[in-house]
Amino acid sequence: MTKVSVIGSGNVGANTVQKLAELNIADIVMVDIVKGLPQGKALDIQQAAPLMGYDVNVMGTNEYADIVDSDIVVVTAGIARKPGMSRDDLLATNIKITKQVCDNIRSCAPDSIIITVTNPLDIVTYAALKCTNFDKKRVLGMSGLLDSSRFASFVAMELGCSVKDVSAMVLGGHGDSMIPLPEYSSVSGIPLKELMDLNTIEKIVDRTINAGAEIVGHLKTGSAFYAPSAAITTMVEAILNDTKKIITASVHLNGEYGMYDICMGVPVKIGRNGIEKIIELELNDKNKEALQKSADSVEAAIIKIETLIGH
Ligand code: NAI
Ligand code: 2OP
Repeated sequence: MTKVSVIGSGNVGANTVQKLAELNIADIVMVDIVKGLPQGKALDIQQAAPLMGYDVNVMGTNEYADIVDSDIVVVTAGIARKPGMSRDDLLATNIKITKQVCDNIRSCAPDSIIITVTNPLDIVTYAALKCTNFDKKRVLGMSGLLDSSRFASFVAMELGCSVKDVSAMVLGGHGDSMIPLPEYSSVSGIPLKELMDLNTIEKIVDRTINAGAEIVGHLKTGSAFYAPSAAITTMVEAILNDTKKIITASVHLNGEYGMYDICMGVPVKIGRNGIEKIIELELNDKNKEALQKSADSVEAAIIKIETLIGH
C-alpha cells in the first residue's frame, strides 16, 4: 500500500490527514512530539472511516521509525503565526525543528518525496533540501498552490462566477513579496483585465498577498489550515497518481530564472518522481524586478540559517 507520513499533528497536519484519508489513496502516519496528540487524532479520523467510506490505515505516533517506506512525507511541524508576527518571525525556531525532522526523514524514509509546509516556507524548503541531501526533484514546498487558490477565490467572489472557471497564478516567495500575476490569470480563458478594471485587480492582488495575515487577524491564536491542507492534499494526489499537474511550488533553482542556490515559488510539473519540470516563463521587466526582490528577501534569510543547518 502507498504510504504518506505527515509530521506535525496540529491544525494543518491533522486536517491534511483527514483530507488524505477521505481520498482513500494511501495509508497515513501522523507524527508529533506531543505524546498522545497524533494517536488521539489518528484514532478519531480512523473512526470516521465507516461513515466516510475510506479504507486506509491512519496511525498516530511519536516515533519516526513508523514513517519507514513512506512514499511522501509532509512536514508541518513547527510554530505558526500569531497576530503581528510575520512568517519570518518563525525562522530560528522552525529551522531547528526542520533540521531535527529532516535528519529523521533522511534515516527512516530515504526514498521519500518531501513536501514542506512549515514557515517561512521557502527557507524551510531550502533547509530540508540541505539537511536531507535528497535529489532536488524530491523536495518541494507548498506555497504557490495555496496563494493561487486564494487569488482565484477572490476573483470568483468579485465576478460572482464559479471558482471552477478561474485559473490564477502566484509566483515568488511565500511571503509579503509574493507576486500574484493577473496577466497569467483568466476566467474560462478570458484574460482578467477584460473582466475587471485595473483598480479592482490591484485590490485583489493586495488581498491575495495579505490573505494569510487576514486569517491570522480573525483567528488570533494561529494561522490558516483548511485551504493549506487542501493545497497539500492536491499536491500529494498529483504525485501519487502521477497526474503531471502544473502548479506553483517552492523548488530549488540553480540557473532557472537567473537564480542560484535558492528555493522559490515557480511553475512546475509534478508527478510520481516529484518535480518533473521547472517551467520558465518569459517575465516582463516589472515581474522580473518583483521576482528579484522576492529572491533578495529569501536569500537574506538563507544567510541567517547557514549555521543552524550546518552548511
Ligand atoms: P500547529 O501549532 O497547529 O501545529 C504544529 C504542530 O507541530 C504541533 O502539533 C506541534 O506539537 C508540532 N511540532 C512542533 N515541533 C515538532 C517536532 N520537532 N516534531 C514533530 N512535531 C512537532 O500549527 P499549524 O497551524 O499546523 O501550522 C504548522 C506550520 O505550517 C506553521 O509553521 C505554519 O506557519 C505553516 N503553514 C504554512 C502554510 C504554507 O502555505 N506553506 C500554510 C499554513 C501554515
Ligand atoms: C498562510 O499563508 C500562514 O503561510 C500561512 O496562511
